[in-house]
Amino acid sequence: MEKPTTSPISTTKHGDVLIVLSNNPPVNALGHAVRHGLVAAIEEAEADNSVSAVVIACEGQTFFAGADVSEFGTPKAFEQPMLPQVVDRIESCTKPVVAAIHGTALGGGLEVALACHYRVAVPSAKLGTPEVKLGLLPGAGGTQRLPRVAGVRQALEMCATGNPIGAKQAFDCGLIDRLIEDELIPHAVGYAEEVRDVRPLPKSSERQYKLNECDPTVFEEFRAANAKRFRGFDAPEANVRAVKVACEKPYAEGVLEERKLFMELMSGTQAKAQQYFFFAERKAAKIDGLPEGTQPRDIKRVGVLGAGTMGGGISMNFLSAGIPVTIVEMSQEALDRGTGVMLRNYEASAAKGKLTAEQVGKAMGLLEPTLDFEALGQCDLIIEAVYENMDVKKEVFGRLDKIAKPGAILASNTSYLNVNEIAASISRPGDVVGMHFFSPANVMKLLEVVRGDKTEPDVLLTAMQIGKKIRKVPVVAGVCHGFIGNRMLMPRQVEATKLLLEGASPQQVDRVHVEFGMPMGPFQMADLAGVDIGWHRDPNRVENVRDALCAIDRWGQKKGAGFYDYDEKRRPSPSPVVQQIIEDFAEKQGVERREISDQEIVERTLYTMVNEGAKILEEGTAQRASDIDVVWVYGYGWPVYRGGPMFWADTEGLDKIVEGLKRQEERMKPEFSFSQLLLDKAGKGERFTR
Ligand code: 3HC
Ligand code: NAI
Repeated sequence: MEKPTTSPISTTKHGDVLIVLSNNPPVNALGHAVRHGLVAAIEEAEADNSVSAVVIACEGQTFFAGADVSEFGTPKAFEQPMLPQVVDRIESCTKPVVAAIHGTALGGGLEVALACHYRVAVPSAKLGTPEVKLGLLPGAGGTQRLPRVAGVRQALEMCATGNPIGAKQAFDCGLIDRLIEDELIPHAVGYAEEVRDVRPLPKSSERQYKLNECDPTVFEEFRAANAKRFRGFDAPEANVRAVKVACEKPYAEGVLEERKLFMELMSGTQAKAQQYFFFAERKAAKIDGLPEGTQPRDIKRVGVLGAGTMGGGISMNFLSAGIPVTIVEMSQEALDRGTGVMLRNYEASAAKGKLTAEQVGKAMGLLEPTLDFEALGQCDLIIEAVYENMDVKKEVFGRLDKIAKPGAILASNTSYLNVNEIAASISRPGDVVGMHFFSPANVMKLLEVVRGDKTEPDVLLTAMQIGKKIRKVPVVAGVCHGFIGNRMLMPRQVEATKLLLEGASPQQVDRVHVEFGMPMGPFQMADLAGVDIGWHRDPNRVENVRDALCAIDRWGQKKGAGFYDYDEKRRPSPSPVVQQIIEDFAEKQGVERREISDQEIVERTLYTMVNEGAKILEEGTAQRASDIDVVWVYGYGWPVYRGGPMFWADTEGLDKIVEGLKRQEERMKPEFSFSQLLLDKAGKGERFTR
């Protein structure tokens, strides 16, 4: 056991209780030095006859938030003592050990707490096993101790979903022994004094009765209930199996099985992708080239212009975060419709138990609906969500320029339009930024923050920070047609449509995407969003398959027909009408129909997206490759176990991507052209991501 030069673990004595305190910012991750310090502290307690009990607690924002993920894949992760040894040493301590929990006891942190003989927590604490979100399972006895302490059902839920529970719920299921309202450490010491003489000490690994109570059908039921949610992922099933083992085998065998499953997951691609994504998401919050000392502007009230599909959802984000919103429409009817939808959405959340009636009332109480444009003059941030038309946008920004207070941020939710052009049309271009939400805006986590040429650094910083405050995942994008996400969608759509003419069916193209792990394929997505989006609205002008569908009212799910036919429950089935339209077009355009392989679909739709991502990267529209991945996971449901398009390309091998694209190049012309960056990186054997 190599001793670290400085230890984040300190010990102090309070009477006969040894307080073991960790100070390893920012989240007290259980890196090597912490693990070493914990074992040393337990040895100290054992050796000191004047010590009769131990309290383990943390300084800073949180109790141990888990293993140090940055050590994974490095030799540090294997330096002794490893976490399983640490927790065993804590549990085998001959003097009672009490975990004093605040903030989040997560992963390895909860495993440390489970190894302690007692656990106390402040009511705001959260406890969980998020390993599954990193493609893993709790690897230090967690899958074996948790069901023994909290019950099998609870452990199954926590391990397989990774969602934490609050301290109150943890108390109710026996995971916490006492809730402490006041100062944590002094009360934890008091608790330790109360239990100092208890023998035998309660050891989580030796508890049995909650396992005996378990109904063995619980596992099959749980799998069936979550089949859709877990589709494609390896880790949830491994978690279920590990918890099941706890019920079937003695503890000592259970931990060996847990270790085996843990190592299998750890060596797989999914865990690498999910761990990569953990850091990608955090990196996305960082703005390159931000001048030092830049301070965000103060946002007390938000204005939203337009209460349509997007304006309402955007407003809800701020209201839910306690920020007042002034929403402006052109007509009373549109205003009432928009606010009505918002109220119904809130009520639906309340009916599902996600919100209380009081919270709904509070949120809606912060909303000021009005037809008075001038009311926006009191807002610190104004987000425009009116029609997608440059003239309309310029007109609206011109009016905002006259009435907005000095220093107010003027944001556009445009999907495609040039934010620089909008900014240049007013007298304060530095205050203009894009804030591109995704539909449904109250649900989808992604927020593309579009940095214009003139956008002031503090405006960009404010947009990013307010995005985080309303619980979005903000990503910086540069100005281009469609920014990061929608721009990469375009080559995919172009090739998907060409594939139809060449012989693929909408079902085949969609199936390939769903099997890949996407929530839906390009044609299912078109039907959901509306085939008519961006359509020229002239039924006599039929130039492609989409025009033909729109001309006969096949606008997608909302009309009961699009690329698919829909029944009254919106279940899709293949449409002979659509098939005929496709075949007619192919004939008219002289396209020879042939059998299309699934691999060709992958190469022409997914490889082209990687190529577009590489272009976005080389021209600086995205700050880093991992930001592109964050956009696709949070904006379009790219399977996180594949990391995102750029990480996936790296795992496929860039030479293989280039080879596939070259195979299809002739067919994809004239729309397709290679990204030089992709060619260069493939040639040098490099990767996009680390
Ligand atoms: N290891 C290493 N670094 C970590 C970390 C971890 N487990 N958890 C967080 N960090 C880092 C972040 O990367 C970030 O670094 P940065 O400032 O350089 O970007 C910093 O800590 C702060 O993190 P957040 O921005 O996420 O801070 P929040 O306050 O928003 O959230 C948190 C705090 C809830 C603790 C959140 O960070 C979190 O969920 N962390 C991950 C917890 C986790 O997954 N634990 C399980 C690890 S696996 C394990 O324990 C295996 C074991 O069973 C063997
Ligand atoms: P929508 O048509 O549902 O709503 C637009 C609303 O703006 C209408 O209610 C209209 O009455 C109102 N409006 C128009 N001009 C106005 C004015 N001068 N003053 C006040 N209100 C005015 O459109 P939607 O879908 O909400 O789109 C709005 C913007 O968001 C567009 O720029 C669009 O590209 C973008 N967007 C749309 C997404 C979607 O999936 N619908 C996704 C992301 C961005």
